[in-house]
Amino acid sequence: MSIEVTPLSDVFGAEVTGADLNDWHDDEQFKRIRQAFLDHGVIAIRDQKIDPAAQIAFARRFGELQGHVLSKFCLPSHPEILILSNRRKNGEPVGIADAGRHWHSDMSYAERPPLGSMLYAHEIPPEGGDTLFADMHAVLDALPSATRSRIDGLQGAYNYTRDYEKARAKNPDRPPLSAEQLASLGEVTHPVVRTHPDTGRKALYVNEGHTIGLAGLPENKAHALMQELFEFSTRPEFIYRHVWQRHDVLFWDNRRALHHALPYDRQHIRHMHRVTVAGDRPF
Ligand code: SIN
Repeated sequence: MSIEVTPLSDVFGAEVTGADLNDWHDDEQFKRIRQAFLDHGVIAIRDQKIDPAAQIAFARRFGELQGHVLSKFCLPSHPEILILSNRRKNGEPVGIADAGRHWHSDMSYAERPPLGSMLYAHEIPPEGGDTLFADMHAVLDALPSATRSRIDGLQGAYNYTRDYEKARAKNPDRPPLSAEQLASLGEVTHPVVRTHPDTGRKALYVNEGHTIGLAGLPENKAHALMQELFEFSTRPEFIYRHVWQRHDVLFWDNRRALHHALPYDRQHIRHMHRVTVAGDRPF
């Protein structure tokens, strides 16, 4: 079957048809999908019947996988998979029910944030729970030149604990971070304008979830500038909204896209498996 790539919006994102991810070892299929991923930033491959081993094997074709600090919510048989779910088993949550409820780039608080994240929809609610994506190449290209000259050369400061503690205050299912987890989560800095290592394109790289300051700027100035950048980057003209179908595989480029998971009626189950492919240090 031949692979077809069709844009999903005027902004970015594309649907890939004709693929079967159980054929993860198929080189030609992988080459076409990788190119679609680099060209479009977010790709949807619908109607895939894959088990955890196939999801992991396909994701591994893009690079080594990167585990998540919240190991309690990883699939016990396949710890590379992080479970995003509101399902409970024997009264206990099997996954994170409120992951990604703000604009962020996955694990941007890491020294080497992941290249991409691949989310597979096992179960979705009848409505709600869509995921929004912002194209940070388009955002940077559209930034007023005065703003652009204010951010050139700046470094953003990141950490996970501020974001995690905020989420934990609203969701008691999130366990406290252990001393060992805290020790693995220091503060890092990344350039505010980063260069995509595969395409050479530049992107704005700040997000309201994990960017906590701008190195070298006083707090009030940094916060005002960050707020301006957050508001600009989430304007409707930069956004693709993914409305999930069961058995979608969505793979997004964390070096180009921010995303935001929307809420849904908790009477229904939303159960997803995520794997993240390791990336490089942003430059
Ligand atoms: C995330 O990976 O941040 C969550 C995305 C989603 O559940 O739609």
